[in-house]
Formats: sequence, C-alpha cells, structure tokens
Amino acid sequence: MAFKKLAIGNDHTAVEMKNEIMAYLEEKGYEVVNVGTDSPERFNYPVSGYKVAKMVVSGEVDGGILICGTGVGISLAANKVKGIRAVVCSEPYSARLSRMHNNTNIVAFGARVIGVETAKDIVDAWLGAEYEGGRHQVRVDMLAEIEETQALKAAEE
Ligand code: RB5
Repeated sequence: MAFKKLAIGNDHTAVEMKNEIMAYLEEKGYEVVNVGTDSPERFNYPVSGYKVAKMVVSGEVDGGILICGTGVGISLAANKVKGIRAVVCSEPYSARLSRMHNNTNIVAFGARVIGVETAKDIVDAWLGAEYEGGRHQVRVDMLAEIEETQALKAAEE
C-alpha cells in the first residue's frame, strides 16, 4: 500500500525536527496531520505515540511518524496499541527492511540521535518500500498472535 496520508507526533525535544520533516513531506505531496506538541515545554511522549498509533489502526491515516529524543519512548508507547508495528531506527536500511519484512506502520527516530538529513533519508526509505508478504507474513502473524493471546503456539512445540 502506498502511503498518502500520514500522522506525525513528537515531544518537546523534537519540535524543530518535526516541523522540518512535515515541510519536507508536504512538499513531496503527502498529507500530514500534526498531533504532536509545538511547544518547547516538557511534553510526555506517550501522548503523541498513542495519538498517532490510534489514527493508524483506525485507518484515519496510512502510516505514522514519531520523533522524541531517542525515538525509543515514543515508539514503545505506539507499540502498546494493538495492531501497531513501530520501528525505531537511526539509518535508512532498517527503515526500508522494516517495511519489506515486518510491515511496519509507524517509523520513529530520535532528534537527539540523528540529524535532519538522516531523518529525511529514513523517511524516504520507509515510505518508498513495499511489504513483501509471503514468508514474512507467517512471522508478522506470530506477532499478532502474541499480541492477541499473550502466548505463541510455535514456542510451545
Ligand atoms: C525526554 O527527555 C526524553 O526522555 C524523550 O524525548 C525520549 O528520548 C524518550 O524515550
């Protein structure tokens, strides 16, 4: 599925990077819904992670972008929402493979970890890759099984 409409969220550490990434994507023709903070005041990253995640699973947007200091907390928050597969990465290769193999629906990175040009490369790699399905679907289904049942049949064999 090609991403057209995206949600973006951030905490106080990533206002500037969020704005740069939004402008970059809008220039490329993406529709971007900003649900993050626009203030330098302390802001709890789970709020943005949760909001973007809910928009993704509801189908309101095709995918999400999350930015905090490291990308860790905000991606953890998103991954608590059923149906979310959020990847945090600092280089484009993992972003691309996370789409192709893991069918990630959110990409996250850290404003205190990478520069804005690397962030743009990551976003381009993530948005430009397609999920391959096939053998990967078995594993993605296992992720859903863990999420649904808090158990995994394959681990009991
Ligand atoms: C905020 O200080 C920082 O903890 C947050 O941006 C993020 O890095 C958490 O994972």
